[in-house]
Amino acid sequence: MKTSMQLFALGTWTKAIAASAVVLTTMIAGQAVAAGIADTKHNLGTSNPRVGENRVSAGTEEICVFCHTPHGADTTAPAPLWNKRLTTGAAYSTYATLNSSTIDGTMLAVGSVSLACLSCHDGTQAMDNIINAPGSGGYDVTGGGSTGLGYTWAGPRVDADGKMTGIANLGADLSNDHPIGIQYCGGGPNATTPTGACTDTDFVAPQNATINTNLVWWVDTSGGTAGTRQRTDMLLYTRSFGGTNGPSVECGSCHDPHAPAVGTQVAFLRVSNAGSALCLACHVK
Ligand code: HEC
Ligand code: HEC
Ligand code: HEC
Ligand code: HEC
Repeated sequence: MKTSMQLFALGTWTKAIAASAVVLTTMIAGQAVAAGIADTKHNLGTSNPRVGENRVSAGTEEICVFCHTPHGADTTAPAPLWNKRLTTGAAYSTYATLNSSTIDGTMLAVGSVSLACLSCHDGTQAMDNIINAPGSGGYDVTGGGSTGLGYTWAGPRVDADGKMTGIANLGADLSNDHPIGIQYCGGGPNATTPTGACTDTDFVAPQNATINTNLVWWVDTSGGTAGTRQRTDMLLYTRSFGGTNGPSVECGSCHDPHAPAVGTQVAFLRVSNAGSALCLACHVK
């Protein structure tokens, strides 16, 4: 039978172990932060340290090459230095097909940065469709077509061709997804009246700035400095609504494809959605 002194010592020791476990967990979390995109599901190379994720087991250890190239990029693509063919032949249906009676904004056909995301996330094209393949002389404007470069894939949610399967494959029917290509706040702010009042006042008013003669919009979050566009703000993308440029919500408004998971900030979200903070950044509810 243990004496109360021994029990006390045991309790203290258990606490010490628990405390060091907290320190260790914090250290591991700290390392994940420093690792950046390398430690996310968007590292499709053999260098991805995460077990049980979609990645190539033979192909390349590079990370950025699945999306960007320093040279020979597709200049028609809506994302910078884009290294993938945009999906061909996917007939998207949008949220507009639901005829929601409460929508105020104009909804455009799928376009802008969303097309870049869907070049993997509609599941119709191999994720190793790469225009300028790693190494020299690997340029092919088709990126290898819908079956890509024939890399060997490992992972639970990818088929033998390298096409995404599972919940992250949104498919071509986008009517069950948050609207994209949707005019922000029902219109109001546009190229003619950048600070115009929102038609639908159930929205946080967007900020704007002119950068390199281009007018850009975003919704400030509490994640950064007010009045300055940062990756933790909800980016709005410029598209033409009825012939006048205005701000549009796209995949990249809510997601930063490079954002590592930090605490409750998961799924490449620009800010944590704890307490629905992400939704409330735009919607006044
Ligand atoms: C899974 C696809 C994907 C991967 C992998 C990826 N990016 Fe990106 N990146 C994008 C997309 C899409 C955009 C456009 C985002 C936007 O318009 O908001 C972008 C934008 C950028 C930008 C400009 C905007 C910004 O956030 O600064 C830079 C710089 C960039 N990427 C660098 C990199 C580097 C460096 C790597 C590799 C370490 C990388 N990216 C890996 C998809 C990717
Ligand atoms: C090169 C292919 C590729 C491109 C391009 C790409 N993704 Fe992904 N994405 C993936 C893969 C692979 C996964 C992991 C899927 C799985 O494990 O089921 C993923 C997962 C995600 C997830 C879920 C993350 C999680 O923690 O569950 C989100 C959100 C996401 N992507 C958003 C985007 C957005 C937004 C864009 C465009 C800005 C984009 N992706 C572009 C390949 C891509
Ligand atoms: C209005 C904000 C918003 C927009 C726009 C948006 N997403 Fe998301 N997305 C989210 C949130 C929030 C989550 C996290 C949901 C959760 O925790 O289950 C998410 C989750 C995801 C996931 C993970 C799916 C899952 O349930 O595991 C993928 C993949 C994804 N988004 C891709 C996209 C792509 C591609 C687009 C553009 C076609 C897009 N998102 C547009 C807010 C958005
Ligand atoms: C970047 C800004 C932004 C963010 C973040 C955002 N939304 Fe939206 N959302 C919009 C816009 C703009 C519309 C279109 C509203 C309109 O035109 O009436 C919309 C539409 C909707 C609709 C459809 C309304 C209808 O009348 O059919 C719902 C529901 C919704 N959002 C919920 C959410 C939820 C839940 C979140 C968080 C996961 C979220 N939104 C995040 C901008 C945003």
